[in-house]
Amino acid sequence: MTPVAPLDLDGDARLVVMTGAGVSAESGIPTFRDANGLWEQHRFEDVASPEGFAADPRLVWRFYSVRREKAAACAPNAGHVALADVERRLGDRFLLVTQNVDGLHRRAGSRRLVELHGNLFTSRCSRPRCTTAPFRDEALHLGEALPTCAACGALLRPHIVWFGESLAPEDLQRFEDFLLTARRDAAPLVYVAAGTSGAVQPAAGLVHAARCAGARTVLVNLERPDNVDAFERVHLGRSGEVLPRLLG
Ligand code: OAD
Repeated sequence: MTPVAPLDLDGDARLVVMTGAGVSAESGIPTFRDANGLWEQHRFEDVASPEGFAADPRLVWRFYSVRREKAAACAPNAGHVALADVERRLGDRFLLVTQNVDGLHRRAGSRRLVELHGNLFTSRCSRPRCTTAPFRDEALHLGEALPTCAACGALLRPHIVWFGESLAPEDLQRFEDFLLTARRDAAPLVYVAAGTSGAVQPAAGLVHAARCAGARTVLVNLERPDNVDAFERVHLGRSGEVLPRLLG
């Protein structure tokens, strides 16, 4: 690993961090697009799309139940902890946006957190107009029986943003508002992306919005991802090793 100079976050500086599956890899959670990644073992159309759920909800629930079981048995690593520590230091000058659904950032202590792709331990009714709100759910559905909504009887589904679905507008708004506030206050702004292949929009494009808002851009990743050219500073290495130095 090349030497990592800590970011200058003194004064009024603002920091926004975007994380992906690579940040949880050292906790033992598989990534999606690496060798042996989840999308090598499953067709994402089958397990992560509304069409897949309509065709075979048991398969989808088995897939997410196994992921629930695995994630519950994993613990946050030094990268998650470094992000929770820097939030304690910066307070509202910090925002964490994650594509991860495994809940490890929250377990590490992160609170100023946007879970762009949903949460593995949350379920909701699959009927769009049902009034039942998404709720915390650690249940495993590995057999024949499928969970149903207590209010309307429709199938429950994982609270995950699947392929072909839109992100919650309020989640993207929190990111936009953070950039706007930094700009309004003429504060130095840093955008860090860590452990993500930059293959999935709109998450991969947030670096461009940050640049337009005047941010310095930093990447922490094992290898050069698709959108590497958008970053001014690149640290190739494990996020559990690089993030504590970068944010220390
Ligand atoms: P990917 O699996 O596409 O990319 C993970 C990236 O992390 C790769 O570029 C790896 O090189 C890197 N990596 C692996 N181990 C690392 C480590 N210890 N430290 C640093 N980097 C490491 O995962 P994402 O970019 O998160 O969406 O994937 C984005 C979205 O695609 C996911 O949120 C998921 C998926 O489809 C949904 O399921 C909704």
